[in-house]
Amino acid sequence: MLSLLTLLVVGVFGAAPVAASGDGCRAGCQLSLAAYYFSGDSNLSFVASLFGMADYRALLPYNPAITNPDYVVTGVRVNAPFPCYCRSLPAAPNPTFLAGAIPYTLSRGETYDTIATSYANLTSAAWLEATNAYPPNRIPSAGNVNVTVNCSCGDESVSRRYGLFLTYPLWDGETLASVAALYGFSSPAQMKLMRRYNPGMEGVSGKGIVFIPVKDPNGSYHPLKSGVCRQ
Ligand SMILES: *[C@@H]1O[C@H](CO)[C@@H](O)[C@H](O)[C@H]1NC(C)=O
Ligand SMILES: *[C@@H]1O[C@H](CO)[C@@H](O)[C@H](O)[C@H]1NC(C)=O
Ligand SMILES: *[C@@H]1O[C@H](CO)[C@@H](O)[C@H](O)[C@H]1NC(C)=O
Ligand SMILES: *[C@@H]1O[C@H](CO)[C@@H](O)[C@H](O)[C@H]1NC(C)=O
Ligand SMILES: *[C@@H]1O[C@H](CO)[C@@H](O)[C@H](O)[C@H]1NC(C)=O
Repeated sequence: MLSLLTLLVVGVFGAAPVAASGDGCRAGCQLSLAAYYFSGDSNLSFVASLFGMADYRALLPYNPAITNPDYVVTGVRVNAPFPCYCRSLPAAPNPTFLAGAIPYTLSRGETYDTIATSYANLTSAAWLEATNAYPPNRIPSAGNVNVTVNCSCGDESVSRRYGLFLTYPLWDGETLASVAALYGFSSPAQMKLMRRYNPGMEGVSGKGIVFIPVKDPNGSYHPLKSGVCRQ
């Protein structure tokens, strides 16, 4: 855990300041979470390795409901931490979107499709193709690609109360409203807020990604500090 924090801190200060140019991406955050759909083929070590963690125990603080790491039920969402920063498309000078870029070590025969499948719809083949320099038919059999996972750090113009968000791919039958309710947001006022964080996602079912405010292991929603642009 310590080394993960150290890495994150190094990442923060190592990142070049992002020039805002009316592009909708001004500042990222050190911590966001990804909801990984746990299937029969995965175990916690595998999930941890997908997010660059050597030890699955680093996942446990973010998953208080997992009391027995050897027994995780298919369909459970395992929360994995990753840093969320402003990114640019290859060959584009200015950052335009917020995402995690998780280094993924290639082995022979992999495609953007197989990689996207490993990440359980947290990204897509098309989005991997858009955000990596390699054309889909020229992916090397060794080296790295960036697994680009969209994320949110909150929005001062919506609410300062929430600064930690879960990237949650909708599963069959799920909607923004059903997922928000799972995380305790269901009143009309709360749903109004959820729609503002997720424009265009109202009424969508079983596809796409929603961003839901969540608490960190200390029970904090990471409120945004007023007037502070976070990197
Ligand atoms: C996960 O599976 C791999 C092999 O598939 C195994 O080596 C590893 O011990 C497993 N990890 C856990 C936490 O069960
Ligand atoms: C990913 O999305 C595809 C297409 O919508 C769906 O068939 C598949 O079940 C999804 N997998 C997961 C793990 O969410
Ligand atoms: C991530 O966000 C970008 C827009 O910022 C969008 O074009 C892309 O489709 C999204 N990717 C996924 C997998 O949802
Ligand atoms: C992955 O991202 C890094 C920095 O964001 C970039 O230097 C590298 O070229 C990217 N890799 C690919 C394959 O696009
Ligand atoms: C939780 O609180 C401890 C002690 O204040 C702090 O060191 C740690 O960074 C916090 N964790 C998160 C995820 O904010």
